[in-house]
Amino acid sequence: MLSQRMIDRINLQINKEIYSAYLYLAMAAKMNELGYSGVGKWLTVQYHEEMFHAMKFAEYLHDQNAEVSYAKIDNPEFKEKEIKPLFQHVLAHEESVTASIREIMELAITEKDYATQILAQWYIDEQVEEEKNATEIIQKIDLLGNSHQGLYLLDSELAKRESSVPLDFNKI
Ligand code: FEO
Repeated sequence: MLSQRMIDRINLQINKEIYSAYLYLAMAAKMNELGYSGVGKWLTVQYHEEMFHAMKFAEYLHDQNAEVSYAKIDNPEFKEKEIKPLFQHVLAHEESVTASIREIMELAITEKDYATQILAQWYIDEQVEEEKNATEIIQKIDLLGNSHQGLYLLDSELAKRESSVPLDFNKI
């Protein structure tokens, strides 16, 4: 059984994950509008990843017989229209998500909540991947230089990203 504090904290995280999805969806729309369809595709896949993260938490609450509460999602906030600053924003956002997941782990440790510790460990591993993905794209931009040709190549590569997350949750 989860403490009410943990239930509230996980519901807050669900909101953060859906905000992340919403942010990446908005970024995808802007990149598509600017002609970077590969970046748009990458971000759309990321949107699905974030919804998966949210639904995985929601399913966990259901499994623990705890209430899932969906709160208002803030407007997605970003101004970047160029690829490198956009991915720097993605990286900074992911770093903030990592910090938030760590808070859940710390609460689970404090409460001797072993089930949530195991769940939080999955997200901690996932955040290593999330930060690595954004970092590698920024590194590639630097390697290619900010030339039109380099950005075209990168856009073509990012277009190949495919979603691998299952979106068939029964309990949302
Ligand atoms: Fe759900 Fe990108 O962290």
